[in-house]
Amino acid sequence: MATPRGRLQGKNAIITGAAGGIGLETSILFAREGANVLMADISLPALEKALAKVKELVPGAPRVETTKCDVSKESDVQAMVEAQDSWGGTDVIFNNAGIMHADDADAVDTPEKIWDLTHNINVKGVWFGCKHAVLSMRKHKKERGSIINTASVVALVGSATPQLAYTASKGAVLALTRELAIVHAREGIRFNALCPAPLNTPLLQDWLGDDQAKRHRREVHFPMGRFGEAIEQAHAVVFLASDESSFVNGSDFVVDGGMTRAYVTPEGPAPAAPQNQAR
Ligand SMILES: NC(=O)c1ccc[n+]([C@@H]2O[C@H](COP(=O)([O-])OP(=O)(O)OC[C@H]3O[C@@H](n4cnc5c(N)ncnc54)[C@H](O)[C@@H]3O)[C@@H](O)[C@H]2O)c1
Repeated sequence: MATPRGRLQGKNAIITGAAGGIGLETSILFAREGANVLMADISLPALEKALAKVKELVPGAPRVETTKCDVSKESDVQAMVEAQDSWGGTDVIFNNAGIMHADDADAVDTPEKIWDLTHNINVKGVWFGCKHAVLSMRKHKKERGSIINTASVVALVGSATPQLAYTASKGAVLALTRELAIVHAREGIRFNALCPAPLNTPLLQDWLGDDQAKRHRREVHFPMGRFGEAIEQAHAVVFLASDESSFVNGSDFVVDGGMTRAYVTPEGPAPAAPQNQAR
């Protein structure tokens, strides 16, 4: 990959859930665009592999490091953000780590412990990331901060295949992001929520497996006839992180191939999808 082109030149960025999927593709693009990147994840072995991938694909990256962080623990999140004090403070945080548990179900069958686990990671983790990034941006007198939180299209449209804890958690991410966008607007800190449609990442694909009927039930709702790719989310995150999006604030930034705008979808083969970098 070419040397940094610099849409994020000089920005110190943190990405949570950076070891795979959207987080890894975003780490690669951020590094390519000249950001200093702190890749955070709960899985250290996965992080090490992901770091090797970023270094292989972006040999000229300014600074890319990793840190183990469980986003549901405030002390971990605080340590992660404060690790960037010596870099000059955080300019961008992408609060992206999230889980979708296999035991998540409907109002009757969702176990309470799955509800709590999901909300601890998907909601509290995002709150902690926002809180400590704001503190860092204030401490380092940043005039242009960008905070991007990963929600989901399930926060916008209902599904007859419920994962109630997950859906509720993503609705909370949308609401808290919107509110913080208004609260901090005059400090120069922007907040936006990314709403991905279902993607070709392990989070969903491992769960769908080879079940063609289960897969088709979802694919039919995509006007383009395919799931999204992680890199298609990552490109949106680069825009939201950069100063190019200086007037984009408080948005539910939907990257879904038109899924949430569709009624009857076309038939025929899907056009080709872009390739992820990490594959
Ligand atoms: N894949 C999809 O279809 C889809 C659709 C909409 C939204 N999303 C959201 O996008 C985000 C990223 O998902 P992905 O598809 O790239 O999934 P992924 O499973 O590939 O990546 C998620 C990463 O988060 C990490 N993680 C899990 N718990 C953590 C914790 N407590 N602390 C820190 N890291 C933790 C995992 O180790 C993993 O590397 C999630 O918030 C997910 O809910 C995904």
